[in-house]
Amino acid sequence: MIVLKSPQEIDRMRTACRIAYEILLHISELVQPGVTTFDLEQIASAEAAKRKAKCAFKGYHNYPSSLCCSPNNQVVHGLPTKNPLKSGDILSLDFGVYIDEFYGDSAVTVPVGKISTAAQALIAATEHSLYAGIENAVPGNRLGDVSHAVQQYVEKLGYSVVRDFVGHGIGRNLHEDPQVPNFGQPGKGLKLKAGMVLAIEPMINEKSHDVIVLDDQWTVITSDGGLSAHFEHTVAITDKGPEILTRI
Ligand code: MF3
Ligand code: CO
Repeated sequence: MIVLKSPQEIDRMRTACRIAYEILLHISELVQPGVTTFDLEQIASAEAAKRKAKCAFKGYHNYPSSLCCSPNNQVVHGLPTKNPLKSGDILSLDFGVYIDEFYGDSAVTVPVGKISTAAQALIAATEHSLYAGIENAVPGNRLGDVSHAVQQYVEKLGYSVVRDFVGHGIGRNLHEDPQVPNFGQPGKGLKLKAGMVLAIEPMINEKSHDVIVLDDQWTVITSDGGLSAHFEHTVAITDKGPEILTRI
């Protein structure tokens, strides 16, 4: 069941989304060689508490942390660790909050120190593919138009789209219908309507799209050891077009 949001509800989601994004951006600016993802986790949860927001992921299906930190070949849901980041790493950070009965969710991938041109290209392509998807999140389009736009953008460049994890509707729940795959056929699927709010989140692999979940039951890695990048925005579909709610 898809729950449409009124303009008043979208207003309230804007607050949650801005807080999530503001904290995510703050954390991402602290990333440098020597910093640990455990440090980032602590800062993220302290910043959320300062704003009286709840961390959306902590305790969600027993996820143990507030922040997902997925370096290099980790795709999503990486757990914070005390291993210092090193120059040349890339790091995907995913953060969500809950405040005033609504969720906001966003993710970015950032370089640690100086990274390879191959890693830079993967990050740029993943971010651009998110915007290609968002441009298609307009009333009257189909969900497949969003999915296909992401897929086409990255596959043209030789990358692959993770199949086993997808974006999602979001609102009074972190995960609502519909699922938002990053692969699909144009003109197919659910018709998009004003009032839908989607978390669009391409997870893009340098090589094969195949992934493995580690024994910790959370950390998702690429099966071939290739790099992976992840960007996410919470987006409201409105009569005036897509509105990115996770922004400053
Ligand atoms: N952005 C991710 C998602 O929507 C993060 C979820 S982590 C979890 O699935 F712990 F909450 F599952
Ligand atoms: Co999400």
